[in-house]
Amino acid sequence: MSMNCIFGFSLFLLLLVVLNIYFFYNLSVEHRPATFKLPMVKSEPIPPVIKEINEYLNRLPSQYHTKNSKFVSVQRNLISSFNSSGASLDSVWQNVENWADEESLFPYKNGAAGQILQAMRTSQIAFVDNAPKGTQLKLLLVLKGNQKLYFKPKRYNLSDVIRGNIYAGYDRHNSEVFTYYLAMVLNYKWVAPSVIRRININYDILAHAVPGLKRTMVKNSQGSDCIYGKCYYCKINETVCPDSTGHIEGAGILYLDKYFKVNKSPWRHSYNSKKMEWENDKDFCKKVSSLLSTKRILNLIDIAIIDFLIQNGDRHRYEVYKHKILLLDNGKGLGNPMLDELDILAPLYQCCIISSKTWQMLELVSGGSLTETIQLLASFQGEKLTTDDHYRAIERRLLKVYATVMYCIGKHGSANVFHNIDGI
Ligand SMILES: *[C@@H]1O[C@H](CO)[C@@H](O)[C@H](O)[C@H]1NC(C)=O
Ligand SMILES: *[C@@H]1O[C@H](CO)[C@@H](O)[C@H](O)[C@H]1NC(C)=O
Repeated sequence: MSMNCIFGFSLFLLLLVVLNIYFFYNLSVEHRPATFKLPMVKSEPIPPVIKEINEYLNRLPSQYHTKNSKFVSVQRNLISSFNSSGASLDSVWQNVENWADEESLFPYKNGAAGQILQAMRTSQIAFVDNAPKGTQLKLLLVLKGNQKLYFKPKRYNLSDVIRGNIYAGYDRHNSEVFTYYLAMVLNYKWVAPSVIRRININYDILAHAVPGLKRTMVKNSQGSDCIYGKCYYCKINETVCPDSTGHIEGAGILYLDKYFKVNKSPWRHSYNSKKMEWENDKDFCKKVSSLLSTKRILNLIDIAIIDFLIQNGDRHRYEVYKHKILLLDNGKGLGNPMLDELDILAPLYQCCIISSKTWQMLELVSGGSLTETIQLLASFQGEKLTTDDHYRAIERRLLKVYATVMYCIGKHGSANVFHNIDGI
């Protein structure tokens, strides 16, 4: 080979290398446009338990990806609870004080659930006031027949994505209603009936507003009457205004005139950068077990599963009635469909126990049945509760719940994971 030839070949190789570098440079720059935002990634390393759960997720048995034929009869019963068409609503509010029994907070069989929702959505309003307590703007509607509802106004459109920490933003009115249906499908009956209701600023609110409420209203620049309310975070510049047809949409939530015992949740999230005890202590569940009964821990795990599905990280305290935890205040769900904060499931993966009844129910709703049933039941009130993105997210999170239980079985054996205790 001549000197010229070697020189030429070397030049060729050099050119190849330079081209390569250029190519890779371009690749990495062009595929990372400046506007691309990753869904909030924590800068901390992923804890081993989360990695293990993800491994179980990747080899989840196929039954959890498909529908369970045993759900058909359960779905049929749910439909008959919620299909209230043709029913008379005259006597719905009778005997409300005797509604709760050992099984549920309110009647639900034979169309009763649907009748209560329909009456909540359509009963005439007698008085409107600001709700007595709370952190966020909420009205109290007193219906003709004397039943009271909380009314949490709509603050976001269904497709709005709430970014930031797990408790960021205003409450989502649709999350309240969605959680009611979700809990009912999962056979968790300790939840207040909730429905989407639209009320007219003139006929429903101003005509029946008590003076105290009128004092917390202002006119906006278009001349509409807007409400800023009376609550911990209420501000005169953060109003709720009627839409172009004069209506305000919100969640109507049945007011439960009962005494509830309030407890702090051991797994509550921190509201600042300080870590909570459960985040630092792998054996945290042992500590909780010395303070709470197994029954209460199983109940907290039921709640954690529902909170994980909707991504509510804001349950710092919980109310108890007849020894059951009530699912109240569910407005912090459905914030971001791209995000699955697995640590909301910490009670499950740290204690690795679950009620057999809860597990059997979860196994029934696999493969899209959960979405399908919530949509079906909500359609009886003409409601669209959330977006397809959120439904997909809930199905994805359900798979993660299955994977977490598989992780627990792998670690402790099913005999130690499943608990058969009456009454939860
Ligand atoms: C919701 O969307 C409508 C129409 O797209 C818009 O006019 C309205 O301001 C939005 N509301 C909120 C709360 O973002
Ligand atoms: C309303 O005013 C407060 C200060 O009083 C401010 O912190 C807040 O950001 C304002 N809200 C809006 C929506 O402008």
